[in-house]
Amino acid sequence: MSIIEERARALMDRYAFKEIRIPALERLSLFQRSTGDTTDIVEKQMYAFSDRDEAETTVALRPEGTPGVVRAYIDAGLDRRDPEQRFFYSGPMFRRERPQKGRYRQFFQFGIEVFGRADAACDAELLTLIRDLGVELGILLHIQINSIGDSECRPKFRDALIQWGRTNWARLCEDCHNRIERNPLRLLDCKIDADLAKSAPSSLDYLCEACRTHFDTVKRLTSAAGVEFTVNPGLVRGLDYYTRTAFEVMAEGLGAQNTVIAGGRYDGLVEAMGGAAIPGIGFAIGVDRLALALHAAEVVKERTPDAAIIPIGEAARAQAMVLAHDLRAMGQLQIELLSSDRKVKALLQRAGKIGARFAVIFGDDELAKRVVQLKDLKAGTQEEVPISRLIGALSRPAKA
Ligand code: HAM
Repeated sequence: MSIIEERARALMDRYAFKEIRIPALERLSLFQRSTGDTTDIVEKQMYAFSDRDEAETTVALRPEGTPGVVRAYIDAGLDRRDPEQRFFYSGPMFRRERPQKGRYRQFFQFGIEVFGRADAACDAELLTLIRDLGVELGILLHIQINSIGDSECRPKFRDALIQWGRTNWARLCEDCHNRIERNPLRLLDCKIDADLAKSAPSSLDYLCEACRTHFDTVKRLTSAAGVEFTVNPGLVRGLDYYTRTAFEVMAEGLGAQNTVIAGGRYDGLVEAMGGAAIPGIGFAIGVDRLALALHAAEVVKERTPDAAIIPIGEAARAQAMVLAHDLRAMGQLQIELLSSDRKVKALLQRAGKIGARFAVIFGDDELAKRVVQLKDLKAGTQEEVPISRLIGALSRPAKA
């Protein structure tokens, strides 16, 4: 398990979330209805194919987890029986995107979804959870939030964007020309020049009273919890189901693909998918990207073996198994047992190559005396050490 998943799971336990496992394969129609027909994900990036059943159902590899969780929640009748639920899930997702650093066709998400909570305190709690994850992992995360309104106020914002798009038609890119009627919110997300984007209408200017109060309360409670964030009025999400609070979280050292966590509220989705009118909110961690960020910040250094064991001769080869087991089990050390078929010089080179701190070398003479030759590969020194003291010698902190 990656360190990210390990820490995220520990946090889930403290925040009282339950794990849900969802299928990697679903009907294509599930994503068309939830992620959205006019999104890039559904329009261009699905791995979809015929199930070859009588009904000729088209199935698809999931591009994200939220639709599957919503479907499972409704199928289990929780929306009517016990609507307030907190779930987490993890696993591979699939999008046919142009691969580059931090953007893959199969990638790993760790996501959470909360159902039945319309209050702004829930939004703030999720932002606190993201802050806590950053602290746990020892990495600086920048949280950006926005409100994109709801079914009452969004249509006015949408109209304003279409109007703005028509006025600036000549300066918009081709993708934007296609989006203008179908998905005008994405105009803010596209390759329009930065100055032009600044002149676009902001969703915050169109919020209805209820959405404004919600957003103000999210900001107040998040600040009160000591979580830092910035408001980005240009933040719109690439998926259709969002309402009100939307957020993205960036890490440093990643280049263009620097959004490591993203999510928001989706108060209309459960009902739109055939369930009761239950609000929802969630986010997904892009685990691959966050792992790149941890490496860039040098938070995670790959663990290298504490020792490589180099037995010389038949008797030593048999004894090496026992010794490796004892060091692993009792010393909790990372031990790599090297092949005894090669020359000692080659094996020492191999030990250096895998980054082992020590080489533990022994043959018949050493076995008879119950000792080993312990070579410190970093310091270049060698000493004879009794096997009974080996764990202590291998666990010594390295000299700075
Ligand atoms: P999303 O913004 O599409 O949201 O993806 C969430 C995160 O997954 C991104 O911020 C990014 O870190 C990672 N990600 C997305 N695509 C790729 C890719 N091709 N390669 C590597 N990493 C990628 C969702 O998926 C929503 N389901 C989040 C959510 C949950 N909203 C509410 N609940």
